[in-house]
Amino acid sequence: MSLFGSQVRLAVLGAGKMGGILIEAFVRQNLVSPQNIRATVQHPALERKNGVKLAVSLGTDNCGAVRGADVVLVCVKPQTVGHVLDEIKDELDEKKLLISIAASVSTDYIERRLGLQTPVIRAMPNTPSMVGAGITAICKGKFATAKHVETAQKLFDAVGKTVVADEKNMDAITGLSASGPAFLYIILESLAEGGVKVGLPRDLATLLAAQTALGAAKMVLDTGHHPALLKDTVTTPAGCTIDGILELEEGGLRVTLIKAVVKATERAKELLVSDAEL
Ligand SMILES: NC(=O)c1ccc[n+]([C@@H]2O[C@H](COP(=O)([O-])OP(=O)(O)OC[C@H]3O[C@@H](n4cnc5c(N)ncnc54)[C@H](OP(=O)(O)O)[C@@H]3O)[C@@H](O)[C@H]2O)c1
Repeated sequence: MSLFGSQVRLAVLGAGKMGGILIEAFVRQNLVSPQNIRATVQHPALERKNGVKLAVSLGTDNCGAVRGADVVLVCVKPQTVGHVLDEIKDELDEKKLLISIAASVSTDYIERRLGLQTPVIRAMPNTPSMVGAGITAICKGKFATAKHVETAQKLFDAVGKTVVADEKNMDAITGLSASGPAFLYIILESLAEGGVKVGLPRDLATLLAAQTALGAAKMVLDTGHHPALLKDTVTTPAGCTIDGILELEEGGLRVTLIKAVVKATERAKELLVSDAEL
Protein backbone atom coordinates (compact mmCIF):
# COMPACT_ATOMS: atom_id res chain seq x y z
CA MET A 1 0.00 0.00 0.00
CA SER A 2 1.32 3.45 -0.84
CA LEU A 3 2.40 5.52 2.15
CA PHE A 4 0.17 8.25 0.78
CA GLY A 5 -3.01 6.23 1.37
CA SER A 6 -3.59 8.31 4.49
CA GLN A 7 -2.02 11.59 5.61
CA VAL A 8 1.69 10.92 5.42
CA ARG A 9 3.83 12.09 8.34
CA LEU A 10 7.12 13.47 7.16
CA ALA A 11 10.37 14.16 9.01
CA VAL A 12 12.78 16.45 7.17
CA LEU A 13 16.23 16.30 8.73
CA GLY A 14 18.20 19.34 7.56
CA ALA A 15 15.70 22.03 6.55
CA GLY A 16 18.36 24.09 4.77
CA LYS A 17 18.23 25.30 1.16
CA MET A 18 17.10 22.08 -0.53
CA GLY A 19 15.16 20.69 2.44
CA GLY A 20 13.38 24.04 2.80
CA ILE A 21 12.52 24.18 -0.90
CA LEU A 22 11.04 20.67 -0.73
CA ILE A 23 9.01 21.39 2.43
CA GLU A 24 7.56 24.57 0.89
CA ALA A 25 6.73 22.76 -2.33
CA PHE A 26 5.09 19.73 -0.64
CA VAL A 27 2.94 22.06 1.46
CA ARG A 28 2.05 24.32 -1.50
CA GLN A 29 1.00 21.27 -3.53
CA ASN A 30 -1.14 20.00 -0.62
CA LEU A 31 0.81 16.77 -0.74
CA VAL A 32 1.68 16.84 2.94
CA SER A 33 -0.14 18.93 5.49
CA PRO A 34 2.17 21.31 7.42
CA GLN A 35 0.93 19.81 10.73
CA ASN A 36 2.34 16.46 9.59
CA ILE A 37 5.85 17.76 8.91
CA ARG A 38 8.55 17.84 11.57
CA ALA A 39 11.73 19.43 10.33
CA THR A 40 15.12 19.87 11.96
CA VAL A 41 18.19 22.07 11.62
CA GLN A 42 21.48 22.10 13.48
CA HIS A 43 21.49 25.56 15.02
CA PRO A 44 18.74 26.26 17.57
CA ALA A 45 18.83 29.98 16.65
CA LEU A 46 17.35 29.15 13.25
CA GLU A 47 14.46 27.11 14.66
CA ARG A 48 12.04 29.96 15.11
CA LYS A 49 13.00 32.09 12.13
CA ASN A 50 12.88 29.28 9.57
CA GLY A 51 10.03 27.45 11.31
CA VAL A 52 7.77 30.47 10.95
CA LYS A 53 8.85 30.93 7.33
CA LEU A 54 8.16 27.29 6.48
CA ALA A 55 5.04 27.10 8.68
CA VAL A 56 6.02 23.68 10.04
CA SER A 57 7.35 22.44 13.34
CA LEU A 58 11.10 23.03 13.30
CA GLY A 59 13.53 21.89 15.98
CA THR A 60 16.89 20.26 16.53
CA ASP A 61 15.64 16.88 17.80
CA ASN A 62 16.22 14.44 14.93
CA CYS A 63 15.07 11.38 16.91
CA GLY A 64 11.86 13.13 17.96
CA ALA A 65 11.14 14.09 14.36
CA VAL A 66 11.74 10.54 13.10
CA ARG A 67 9.74 8.89 15.89
CA GLY A 68 6.31 9.81 14.57
CA ALA A 69 7.17 9.80 10.87
CA ASP A 70 6.23 7.47 8.00
CA VAL A 71 8.81 8.99 5.66
CA VAL A 72 12.16 10.40 6.72
CA LEU A 73 13.80 12.79 4.29
CA VAL A 74 17.50 13.25 4.97
CA CYS A 75 18.61 16.63 3.59
CA VAL A 76 21.83 17.30 5.51
CA LYS A 77 25.23 17.70 3.83
CA PRO A 78 26.84 14.43 2.65
CA GLN A 79 29.52 14.59 5.37
CA THR A 80 26.82 14.82 8.07
CA VAL A 81 24.68 11.91 6.86
CA GLY A 82 26.62 9.20 8.74
CA HIS A 83 26.37 11.07 12.03
CA VAL A 84 22.63 11.69 11.58
CA LEU A 85 22.00 8.03 10.69
CA ASP A 86 23.82 6.90 13.85
CA GLU A 87 21.64 9.27 15.83
CA ILE A 88 18.26 8.16 14.40
CA LYS A 89 18.76 4.45 13.76
CA ASP A 90 16.98 3.35 16.94
CA GLU A 91 13.87 5.17 15.74
CA LEU A 92 13.83 3.46 12.33
CA ASP A 93 12.29 0.16 11.33
CA GLU A 94 11.15 -1.71 8.22
CA LYS A 95 7.93 0.30 7.99
CA LYS A 96 9.53 3.72 7.74
CA LEU A 97 10.86 4.86 4.39
CA LEU A 98 14.14 6.76 4.45
CA ILE A 99 14.83 9.03 1.49
CA SER A 100 18.23 10.69 1.23
CA ILE A 101 18.89 13.57 -1.14
CA ALA A 102 22.56 13.82 -0.19
CA ALA A 103 24.96 13.88 -3.11
CA SER A 104 27.55 11.12 -3.16
CA VAL A 105 25.90 8.98 -0.45
CA SER A 106 24.95 5.54 -1.78
CA THR A 107 22.02 3.44 -0.60
CA ASP A 108 24.55 0.76 0.30
CA TYR A 109 26.40 3.19 2.59
CA ILE A 110 23.13 4.11 4.31
CA GLU A 111 22.00 0.49 4.71
CA ARG A 112 25.35 -0.59 6.12
CA ARG A 113 25.57 2.40 8.44
CA LEU A 114 22.06 1.68 9.78
CA GLY A 115 22.54 -2.08 9.97
CA LEU A 116 18.76 -2.39 9.55
CA GLN A 117 16.36 -3.53 6.85
CA THR A 118 14.88 -0.06 6.53
CA PRO A 119 13.80 0.70 2.95
CA VAL A 120 16.07 3.38 1.48
CA ILE A 121 15.59 5.58 -1.56
CA ARG A 122 18.33 7.86 -2.87
CA ALA A 123 17.06 10.95 -4.66
CA MET A 124 18.77 13.79 -6.47
CA PRO A 125 16.45 16.79 -6.87
CA ASN A 126 17.41 20.30 -8.02
CA THR A 127 16.54 23.83 -6.91
CA PRO A 128 13.96 24.60 -9.66
CA SER A 129 11.75 22.30 -7.53
CA MET A 130 10.94 25.59 -5.80
CA VAL A 131 8.81 26.65 -8.78
CA GLY A 132 7.52 23.19 -9.67
CA ALA A 133 10.03 22.81 -12.51
CA GLY A 134 12.54 20.53 -10.83
CA ILE A 135 13.85 17.21 -12.00
CA THR A 136 14.58 14.49 -9.49
CA ALA A 137 16.29 11.19 -10.19
CA ILE A 138 15.56 8.37 -7.76
CA CYS A 139 16.93 4.88 -7.21
CA LYS A 140 16.18 2.28 -4.57
CA GLY A 141 18.25 0.37 -2.08
CA LYS A 142 18.01 -3.37 -1.53
CA PHE A 143 15.18 -3.30 1.03
CA ALA A 144 12.97 -0.84 -0.86
CA THR A 145 10.11 -2.12 -3.00
CA ALA A 146 8.34 -0.77 -6.06
CA LYS A 147 5.77 0.75 -3.66
CA HIS A 148 8.51 2.74 -1.93
CA VAL A 149 9.71 3.98 -5.32
CA GLU A 150 6.12 4.97 -6.08
CA THR A 151 5.90 6.88 -2.80
CA ALA A 152 9.13 8.77 -3.50
CA GLN A 153 8.00 9.42 -7.04
CA LYS A 154 4.75 10.87 -5.78
CA LEU A 155 6.60 13.22 -3.44
CA PHE A 156 9.02 14.49 -6.07
CA ASP A 157 6.39 14.63 -8.84
CA ALA A 158 4.87 17.43 -6.75
CA VAL A 159 7.94 19.56 -7.44
CA GLY A 160 8.56 18.74 -11.11
CA LYS A 161 9.49 15.62 -13.04
CA THR A 162 10.83 12.41 -11.54
CA VAL A 163 12.92 9.80 -13.28
CA VAL A 164 13.91 6.40 -11.95
CA ALA A 165 17.63 5.91 -12.53
CA ASP A 166 20.35 3.33 -12.09
CA GLU A 167 22.29 4.09 -8.93
CA LYS A 168 25.56 3.96 -10.90
CA ASN A 169 24.42 7.12 -12.71
CA MET A 170 23.57 9.17 -9.63
CA ASP A 171 26.89 11.07 -9.45
CA ALA A 172 26.61 11.96 -13.14
CA ILE A 173 23.03 13.10 -12.56
CA THR A 174 24.30 15.24 -9.68
CA GLY A 175 26.89 16.82 -12.02
CA LEU A 176 24.31 17.49 -14.72
CA SER A 177 20.90 18.30 -13.26
CA ALA A 178 21.67 19.20 -9.62
CA SER A 179 24.62 21.48 -10.49
CA GLY A 180 23.13 22.37 -13.89
CA PRO A 181 20.91 25.25 -12.73
CA ALA A 182 24.04 27.16 -11.64
CA PHE A 183 25.65 26.63 -15.06
CA LEU A 184 22.48 27.81 -16.78
CA TYR A 185 22.20 30.91 -14.57
CA ILE A 186 25.68 31.90 -15.74
CA ILE A 187 24.62 31.40 -19.35
CA LEU A 188 21.47 33.46 -18.77
CA GLU A 189 23.42 36.19 -17.03
CA SER A 190 25.91 36.26 -19.91
CA LEU A 191 23.20 36.40 -22.58
CA ALA A 192 21.62 39.30 -20.71
CA GLU A 193 25.02 41.04 -20.54
CA GLY A 194 25.20 40.62 -24.30
CA GLY A 195 21.82 42.32 -24.58
CA VAL A 196 23.03 45.16 -22.36
CA LYS A 197 26.17 45.49 -24.50
CA VAL A 198 24.02 46.03 -27.59
CA GLY A 199 21.86 48.61 -25.82
CA LEU A 200 18.96 46.79 -24.13
CA PRO A 201 17.80 47.78 -20.65
CA ARG A 202 18.99 45.12 -18.16
CA ASP A 203 15.55 43.87 -17.05
CA LEU A 204 14.38 43.51 -20.64
CA ALA A 205 17.61 41.69 -21.54
CA THR A 206 17.20 39.31 -18.57
CA LEU A 207 13.54 38.65 -19.43
CA LEU A 208 14.42 37.97 -23.08
CA ALA A 209 17.25 35.63 -22.09
CA ALA A 210 15.24 33.69 -19.50
CA GLN A 211 12.08 33.30 -21.59
CA THR A 212 14.21 32.28 -24.59
CA ALA A 213 15.93 29.59 -22.49
CA LEU A 214 12.54 28.40 -21.18
CA GLY A 215 11.17 28.28 -24.74
CA ALA A 216 14.20 26.42 -26.10
CA ALA A 217 14.02 23.89 -23.26
CA LYS A 218 10.27 23.42 -23.88
CA MET A 219 10.95 22.86 -27.59
CA VAL A 220 13.39 20.07 -26.76
CA LEU A 221 11.00 18.49 -24.26
CA ASP A 222 7.76 18.88 -26.23
CA THR A 223 9.00 18.02 -29.74
CA GLY A 224 11.48 15.34 -28.69
CA HIS A 225 13.76 16.63 -31.44
CA HIS A 226 17.52 16.58 -31.06
CA PRO A 227 18.80 20.02 -29.95
CA ALA A 228 21.09 20.15 -33.01
CA LEU A 229 18.08 19.84 -35.32
CA LEU A 230 16.25 22.61 -33.49
CA LYS A 231 19.39 24.77 -33.67
CA ASP A 232 19.45 24.27 -37.45
CA THR A 233 15.89 25.61 -37.75
CA VAL A 234 17.04 28.94 -36.24
CA THR A 235 20.20 29.17 -38.31
CA THR A 236 19.39 30.58 -41.76
CA PRO A 237 22.16 30.59 -44.38
CA ALA A 238 24.31 33.73 -44.14
CA GLY A 239 21.98 35.00 -41.38
CA CYS A 240 22.87 36.48 -37.99
CA THR A 241 22.67 33.28 -35.90
CA ILE A 242 25.51 31.52 -37.71
CA ASP A 243 27.78 34.48 -36.91
CA GLY A 244 26.87 34.14 -33.25
CA ILE A 245 27.43 30.37 -33.35
CA LEU A 246 30.90 30.92 -34.82
CA GLU A 247 31.75 33.05 -31.78
CA LEU A 248 30.42 30.36 -29.42
CA GLU A 249 32.54 27.71 -31.13
CA GLU A 250 35.65 29.90 -31.04
CA GLY A 251 35.05 30.58 -27.36
CA GLY A 252 34.78 26.85 -26.67
CA LEU A 253 31.31 26.95 -25.11
CA ARG A 254 30.57 23.28 -25.84
CA VAL A 255 33.84 21.98 -24.47
CA THR A 256 33.55 24.23 -21.43
CA LEU A 257 30.07 22.96 -20.59
CA ILE A 258 31.06 19.34 -21.14
CA LYS A 259 34.04 19.82 -18.82
CA ALA A 260 31.86 21.55 -16.22
CA VAL A 261 29.57 18.50 -16.01
CA VAL A 262 32.57 16.13 -15.89
CA LYS A 263 34.23 18.10 -13.06
CA ALA A 264 31.00 18.41 -11.08
CA THR A 265 30.46 14.64 -11.46
CA GLU A 266 34.00 13.89 -10.26
CA ARG A 267 33.44 16.11 -7.26
CA ALA A 268 30.10 14.40 -6.55
CA LYS A 269 31.98 11.11 -6.17
CA GLU A 270 34.26 12.61 -3.51
CA LEU A 271 31.84 14.35 -1.18
CA LEU A 272 31.19 11.49 1.17
CA VAL A 273 33.91 10.27 3.45
CA SER A 274 35.18 6.92 2.19
CA ASP A 275 33.42 3.67 3.01
CA ALA A 276 36.46 2.79 5.10
CA GLU A 277 34.84 4.90 7.80
CA LEU A 278 32.04 2.36 8.19
N1 LIG B 1 21.44 22.77 -2.97
C1 LIG B 1 21.18 21.99 -4.02
O1 LIG B 1 21.01 22.46 -5.15
C2 LIG B 1 21.03 20.50 -3.83
C3 LIG B 1 20.48 19.74 -4.88
C4 LIG B 1 20.33 18.36 -4.70
C5 LIG B 1 20.74 17.76 -3.52
N2 LIG B 1 21.30 18.54 -2.53
C6 LIG B 1 21.73 17.86 -1.31
O2 LIG B 1 20.97 18.41 -0.26
C7 LIG B 1 21.74 18.37 0.94
C8 LIG B 1 21.66 19.73 1.62
O3 LIG B 1 22.19 20.72 0.75
P1 LIG B 1 21.79 22.24 0.94
O4 LIG B 1 22.35 22.95 -0.23
O5 LIG B 1 20.34 22.35 1.25
O6 LIG B 1 22.66 22.58 2.25
P2 LIG B 1 22.30 23.52 3.49
O7 LIG B 1 21.50 24.70 3.03
O8 LIG B 1 23.58 23.78 4.19
O9 LIG B 1 21.35 22.62 4.41
C9 LIG B 1 21.82 21.67 5.29
C10 LIG B 1 20.93 21.73 6.52
O10 LIG B 1 21.30 20.67 7.38
C11 LIG B 1 21.19 21.14 8.71
N3 LIG B 1 21.97 20.28 9.58
C12 LIG B 1 23.31 20.18 9.74
N4 LIG B 1 23.63 19.23 10.66
C13 LIG B 1 22.43 18.75 11.10
C14 LIG B 1 22.08 17.76 12.05
N5 LIG B 1 23.00 17.08 12.72
N6 LIG B 1 20.76 17.52 12.25
C15 LIG B 1 19.80 18.19 11.57
N7 LIG B 1 20.09 19.15 10.65
C16 LIG B 1 21.38 19.42 10.42
C17 LIG B 1 21.72 22.55 8.64
O11 LIG B 1 21.28 23.23 9.80
P3 LIG B 1 21.66 24.78 10.08
O12 LIG B 1 20.80 25.55 9.10
O13 LIG B 1 21.27 24.98 11.49
O14 LIG B 1 23.13 24.89 9.80
C18 LIG B 1 21.08 23.02 7.34
O15 LIG B 1 19.79 23.55 7.61
C19 LIG B 1 23.16 17.99 0.56
O16 LIG B 1 23.41 16.66 0.93
C20 LIG B 1 23.21 18.14 -0.94
O17 LIG B 1 24.06 17.20 -1.55
C21 LIG B 1 21.42 19.89 -2.64
